[in-house]
Amino acid sequence: MFDEISFDKIKRLPKYVFAAINEIKLSMRQNGEDAIDFSMGNPDGPTPEHIIDKLCESARKPKNHGYSVSKGIYKLRVAICDWYARKYGITLDPNTQACVTMGSKEGYVHLVQAITSPGDSAVIPDPAYPIHYYAFVLSGANVVRFGLEWNEKSELCVESFFAQLENALRESFPKPKFVVVNFPHNPTAVVVYKDFYERLVAMAKKERFYIISDIAYADLSFDGYQAPSIMEVEGALDVAVETYTLSKSYNMAGWRVGFVVGNTKMIDALQKIKSWLDYGIYTPMQVASTIALNGPQQCVQDIARTYEKRMEVLAQAFGEAGWELQKSRASMFIWASLPRQCAHLGSMEFSKRLLQEAKIAVSPGVGFGEKGEGYVRIALIENEKRIRQAAKNLKAFLKQF
Ligand SMILES: Cc1ncc(COP(=O)(O)O)c(C=O)c1O
Repeated sequence: MFDEISFDKIKRLPKYVFAAINEIKLSMRQNGEDAIDFSMGNPDGPTPEHIIDKLCESARKPKNHGYSVSKGIYKLRVAICDWYARKYGITLDPNTQACVTMGSKEGYVHLVQAITSPGDSAVIPDPAYPIHYYAFVLSGANVVRFGLEWNEKSELCVESFFAQLENALRESFPKPKFVVVNFPHNPTAVVVYKDFYERLVAMAKKERFYIISDIAYADLSFDGYQAPSIMEVEGALDVAVETYTLSKSYNMAGWRVGFVVGNTKMIDALQKIKSWLDYGIYTPMQVASTIALNGPQQCVQDIARTYEKRMEVLAQAFGEAGWELQKSRASMFIWASLPRQCAHLGSMEFSKRLLQEAKIAVSPGVGFGEKGEGYVRIALIENEKRIRQAAKNLKAFLKQF
């Protein structure tokens, strides 16, 4: 019945590339088998106690039980701007330059919906966090891609980035209106410094495009590295917005709290679309999020330190098992090229066999874009004991190649 009516838009979303791994994981668990799971960027630690306490206290107040404010309660928007002032030394207006979002993923998708029309064009490096790409696809926009390159210290090859971006702007018709960047990068953990953003902002003004910068992993920086914000660059507010999430820095992934700050025209579009679509996050969660941003920040350092230690342990243990990995400077991921002896399998087949035979789940790089082929992403969400167990399984697995 009604076969002639098709839902064309949803067809633009392909089958989720990670579904194959998830299905194997699920069937293993149903059979009572253990999978050591490095596949998702889902923090395993608890939300800090003082944030939960505030949620409970606030949830007991009946005045907080009604609809909230779609762009976020004023107190939280002020806390966001104060956080930026303390952390990056910049001044933002809580009314016109900040919007609370239901996690940064929701914020990003709705921002793209609000500012893009069918036929518009955006530039997104490859590989990328999949929704960075598919939000534009869902909006009927075109996406121009080029390969991200980095050095042995996981730093972006800036010259190559700008040469390729310039080429994409010159060669594409219509000329791209948007450029999406995400550093520290998911999935590669590649990092940048402030001079990268200075150059990007200058180019945006000259070539006339808007920038969306995602800094979900800004606080998870190691080894003396500190991730910058594009907002630190003079004039960034003319051309850029930045998205951030409490999911990673405060172990609050399930809470769904994030925000977007920056350019008033883009923030106004986001606030407007959200005023039509939602009534805001449950007020007590917004109050508790205010405490997260304003309260003691030692918990953030502790969370970053946990990932850093796990990365050290994993790189060493997997190296001893026969898989040499490049360490990260930031994020909660290691981006690893396939072990030499397994390179012929490709990232999907390697990930499936690693899970079925060694009980280790990772994300195949091809799920993040064509240029992700040859790699897998390892999320540091298992504890050190489980990492060592994984290394033992890995060693036995690699013997067959
Ligand atoms: C780069 C990047 N941006 C955004 C998100 C989404 O975070 P949130 O939980 O705020 O939706 C993720 C989640 O993994 C991510 O990796």
